[in-house]
Amino acid sequence: MKSSLTALPGPRDYFEYKKGKLSVEGIPLQGIMERYGSPLYVYSGGAIRQSYAALTKAFKKSPVQICFAVKANSNLSILRLLSSLGAGCDLVSYGEWDRAERAGVPREKRVLSGVAKTARELESLFRLPEGGVGSIHVESVMEFEMILLIANSMRRPVSVAFRYNPDVDAGTLDKISTGRKHDKFGLTREEILDLAVTYGDDDFVRIAGLSIHIGSQITSIRPFDRAFKRLADLKFEVEEHLGRELDYVDLGGGIGVRYHQEKVIDLGEYAELILKHFKGVPKILIEPGRSLIANAGALVSQVVYSKERGKDRTLILDAGMNDLVRPALYEAYHEILPLEQKGPQPVSWDVVGGICESTDYFAKSRKLALEGLPGEVLAILSAGAYGFSMSSTYNSRPRVAEVLVDRGQVKLIRKRETYTDLIRHEAGI
Ligand code: LLP
Repeated sequence: MKSSLTALPGPRDYFEYKKGKLSVEGIPLQGIMERYGSPLYVYSGGAIRQSYAALTKAFKKSPVQICFAVKANSNLSILRLLSSLGAGCDLVSYGEWDRAERAGVPREKRVLSGVAKTARELESLFRLPEGGVGSIHVESVMEFEMILLIANSMRRPVSVAFRYNPDVDAGTLDKISTGRKHDKFGLTREEILDLAVTYGDDDFVRIAGLSIHIGSQITSIRPFDRAFKRLADLKFEVEEHLGRELDYVDLGGGIGVRYHQEKVIDLGEYAELILKHFKGVPKILIEPGRSLIANAGALVSQVVYSKERGKDRTLILDAGMNDLVRPALYEAYHEILPLEQKGPQPVSWDVVGGICESTDYFAKSRKLALEGLPGEVLAILSAGAYGFSMSSTYNSRPRVAEVLVDRGQVKLIRKRETYTDLIRHEAGI
């Protein structure tokens, strides 16, 4: 809890050693692990509050509504906490919509993106007033035509925004870039202008805004500047065609966080950039996922075994890539800390899981003060975003439990799955 309330927390701000024991908000992780088992996701409510406060403070001069990208962490208790702070949400499936509904996020603060919204999902939503969301972000011409068809046949008024693919390289990992022209997301400028000219304002479908999302874990302000400029130009053109102003722009997510030593964007500069391009726009949405939750979570895991072969040392954990896939999928870096601060001389370890895949690792050649003995416990930090939400039951491993520590309370917010849960929907049990 060292960093100022105007900055996003770093990996160790809420997971710190207290009297030699790695603790979250002052509570030792060892005790939490003993109570709820291992592996275990542990979140800090304080870190979430700080992240939300840092973003809202940065945007105090502009009418920005934060819509949390639910895919980053979709636990209902996390959604309720963020909603209680004032966040809306960015949803990409009917399943996420259902979570927002159950968590009580106000419908007008929800936007629905996603390239594959099915007619069935749209019909279910259109049975509700205003389509169950503030606005639907359209990603293709065919999707827009489907929305027109369904809204008109059901006689339901809905608002949409066109998701613009501005063809800007976000300068992040290839696998998490979304705004270059060959990426599958959004519509081109020409497609959007065509739709605005052809359909204008339909009786039931209102063109309310424009949205973008160019990628994730962006650590430079420049790609945002380029994308915002293109969006502002397009907004002007669309408004000329419609003969009226749009209600809002949605600038997507993407704000990078510190996993290791990367320099991250200054939130004040990011907010200034928004003002530079969108001053006077009545409503501006942003869709942060990672920046609200990544450094609020850790995956706690126990050593099962270790192996030493010459200079190669391998630490085998009870967590695996099914629990946290980011290192295996993106070669992402996550800091790892033993729960006991005072250990042996640090030595270099490959830290792996028990899944039958060579990509199942958490770190390579990482210096850690551990003996490699069964029962030693460590925490993999910065695991709050795209951690549990991307986890699976691969190798028939039940998904792990999740705990939220907030204002001195330790609460189990998702039970560990059982072996029966794994086969519940299969025939022949
Ligand atoms: N809005 C839309 C439309 C998105 O697709 C995303 C993320 C966000 C907002 C939130 O972006 P954020 O603020 O979290 O950067 N699994 C990857 C990240 C994939 C992001 C997908 N879209 C990872 O673990 O790094």
